[in-house]
Amino acid sequence: MEHLAVVQSLCRVGLEAGDEKFRKQVERLRDRLRKAGDMEATEAIDGLLASQQRAATLQPSRVELSRSLAGERLIGTINPPFDKESGAPLAQIVLEPGGATLPPVLTDELEGALDSMLREWADDGKLRSIGIAPTHSCLIFGAPGTGKTVTAMHIAARLGLPVVLARLDGIMSSFLGTTARNIGTLFEFANRYRCVLLLDEFDALAKLRDDPQEVGEIKRVVNTLLQSLDVRALLGLTVAITNHPRLLDPAIWRRFEVKIEMPLPPATARERLFAEFLAPVTVQDSALHLLAWASDGASGSEVRSMTHALKRYLVLEKPDIAHVHVEASEVLAALRRYHVTSANLEDRTRLAALREDPRTIARTLLYSAESSFTQGSVAQLLGKDQATISRWMKEEPA
Ligand SMILES: Nc1ncnc2c1ncn2[C@@H]1O[C@H](COP(=O)(O)OP(=O)(O)O)[C@@H](O)[C@H]1O
Ligand SMILES: [Mg+2]
Repeated sequence: MEHLAVVQSLCRVGLEAGDEKFRKQVERLRDRLRKAGDMEATEAIDGLLASQQRAATLQPSRVELSRSLAGERLIGTINPPFDKESGAPLAQIVLEPGGATLPPVLTDELEGALDSMLREWADDGKLRSIGIAPTHSCLIFGAPGTGKTVTAMHIAARLGLPVVLARLDGIMSSFLGTTARNIGTLFEFANRYRCVLLLDEFDALAKLRDDPQEVGEIKRVVNTLLQSLDVRALLGLTVAITNHPRLLDPAIWRRFEVKIEMPLPPATARERLFAEFLAPVTVQDSALHLLAWASDGASGSEVRSMTHALKRYLVLEKPDIAHVHVEASEVLAALRRYHVTSANLEDRTRLAALREDPRTIARTLLYSAESSFTQGSVAQLLGKDQATISRWMKEEPA
């Protein structure tokens, strides 16, 4: 299709406005393109439709806020709680936790768990009328960079609530000796307002426990925390986050009604993350497939830094990349130049394999254990026709 980039931009702008009639027209365009056999344009337009759909279904405004939640409204002029001696803030207030960021990419299972928790809050009147309280505390744990903080913010956004964000490591390290009092102050503040209390870096508490000098202090802190969590359970929602669940005090662990483990993203989730982080650049499915394959073992934030590096290569080669569809073969070329510096990929040999000659790459992808590459997609990636790939495979079978 001629002028695909311009058409794509037009569609994107139109779809963002959210008009149903416009969407129908874009769907018609896609169907025509498919009939005409223009698969590149069909995929590009389809990608736009899908990402707009996702953004629309997850809009925070779609969730009805619980009406029976008590407390004052938290507004911009209210200052966060602070340490009485040093004057340092104990938390940060985030009025719009959804911000401009897209919702996190989660596995279906996790998405389901969150949905049911959020529904309890949206409909808590029903639950309370039969004497049951909605879930009021949730602990999110998992490896660094898996989207825990993003997900907690998303929970608050879906509920239409601001976040009182406390980093426990900050509270503990800077105010040793006054930690218990500061925790009390923090919870008092959170209980006064309608908000989600987010306790990030929650394992900081455990680090303190390693210090034999601090035994008395730890007891005081743990007790204060347990009491504070119990009181808060009747008043509002608390989300805690930790990278090291095993370090948590068992009594504190038990206080949380829902525990969510954030896994490393599986291949399908990595594909979605790549598609999202690559925007506004779009790529063919075979390229997304390759990126997911090559990034085995990466966390969400590693996928993000990988995408940024790749985008840099692609942009440097083509200064007008902003709204362009990048060929699968260009993505492979960029991946061949990508050298992991910070990413913690489990299996870097996959990236190394992509630096081999085309025949070896074809064999690796087609015979890779859990791969679902087809000769067609490998042909696209290598910029060859399918007959060539087919011939190569016959010449050198597995
Ligand atoms: N599941 C995910 N969905 C969307 N973005 C993610 C996901 N996991 C990681 N990220 C990206 O990585 C960055 C770090 O995520 P973050 O929530 O701070 O991780 P954690 O709190 O688990 O260490 C985020 O800004 C986001 O861009
Ligand atoms: Mg975090």
